Amino acid sequence: MINEKIQNVLNAQINKEFYSAYLYLAMSAHFDEIGLSGFSNWTKIQAREEVDHGMILFDFIIERNGKVELSQIDVPETSFGSPLEIFEKIYEHEKYVTSSINCVASMSDEECDLAARNFIDWYIAEQVEEERNVYKIILKLKMFGDDKSALFHIDKELNSREYNLHVYK
Ligand code: FEO
Repeated sequence: MINEKIQNVLNAQINKEFYSAYLYLAMSAHFDEIGLSGFSNWTKIQAREEVDHGMILFDFIIERNGKVELSQIDVPETSFGSPLEIFEKIYEHEKYVTSSINCVASMSDEECDLAARNFIDWYIAEQVEEERNVYKIILKLKMFGDDKSALFHIDKELNSREYNLHVYK
């Protein structure tokens, strides 16, 4: 059985993951509107991964005989800047999610909930990967962002991203 403190923080994390999906979907729609279909593809796939992150938390709470409590998801912003500014925003958002996951880990330690602590390790590793992927795109945009043909190639590269169902291992 999961204790209330851990249950609450995991339910809050579900909301953050689904908000992340909303944010990426809003960005995907924006990129599509301005003709950057590869950027649109990348952010749409990221949105699907965020839903997977939320669902893994959902399943874990149930697995621990806890209570899933879904809360209202904030409306994401809909006005965006350049691709570089958007990816810098993504990077800040992912750092925020990382700190939230770290707090879940540290609370699991405090509460001596080793199942939760073990579970959240998957998210810690996932955040390292997410921050790194976003950072690499930022580096490219910083180097080539003003060059339209380079932006075209980055867009083509991001268009090759494929969705793979994220499962807890
Ligand atoms: Fe699920 Fe991008 O953090």
